[in-house]
Amino acid sequence: MTGPIHITPSGETLGARITGIDLSQPLDPSSVAQLRQALLEYCVLVFPNQPVSDEDQVRFTGYFGSARAHVRKQRERRVKEIFIISNVKENGEPIGALGSATVDFHSDLSYMPRPGTISLLQAIEIPQEGGQTQWCDCRAAHDALPAQEQRMLSTLRAVHRHPVPEQNPPEPASHPVVRIHPETGRPSLYVSPHLTSHVANMDEAGSEALLEGLYAHMDQPRFVWTHHWQVGDLLMWDNRPTMHRRLEFPDEQRRVMKRTQVFG
Ligand code: OGA
Ligand code: MN
Repeated sequence: MTGPIHITPSGETLGARITGIDLSQPLDPSSVAQLRQALLEYCVLVFPNQPVSDEDQVRFTGYFGSARAHVRKQRERRVKEIFIISNVKENGEPIGALGSATVDFHSDLSYMPRPGTISLLQAIEIPQEGGQTQWCDCRAAHDALPAQEQRMLSTLRAVHRHPVPEQNPPEPASHPVVRIHPETGRPSLYVSPHLTSHVANMDEAGSEALLEGLYAHMDQPRFVWTHHWQVGDLLMWDNRPTMHRRLEFPDEQRRVMKRTQVFG
């Protein structure tokens, strides 16, 4: 028996809290449709207190597309679609990715020709200080630019590269600087300081000035929403109209998250 799903918008341009749902149980198609709609509108959905099993997280992810193992290799996992984000080391070996330093703004897997679309992250252990995740609303950031600049940007493409060379595909991925969401038709800026290397067909100084200007514009409090994690939070976000960053935390504190993703 399930009651109505409650959707409480954060009051900012993105983010909503979803309650009245149990993610350890199969969902009916109308609930999935409601969540899909909420995701398109709010871009980041917070499901508080949903400490689901690996299998349940993968099943829930599968309602939104094909849940696939992350492209990055990790040591053996029981459920291959689960990717661990953590600073914890066991026998000197990191059990997951991303450590404890700040991870600058990025849209997941934008260095791939077909980047990730939706990502999910469940908090298993959280540090006492820091480690928050912030999302930038790249639709609102686009819409706030003067029309003439929007038009100029819509003619450009940018090349995306992972800072670790081995993680890149043989052929560097390039994407439009203004991305049109295939489901909502809304334009958004699709460049990020962590994963965008340069604007295609532009000299280095011009590309750098243009990107630095966009990053400063995007990183304004009016476009950025912060999530303070609680154990058992499960978050789902749409990478197409957003970018996110993880704030640093003390390395001696443990942070363990379980990640799944849908590929576009
Ligand atoms: C990710 C990511 C941020 C975090 O999983 O893609 O950027 O808060 N994680 O762990
Ligand atoms: Mn990420």
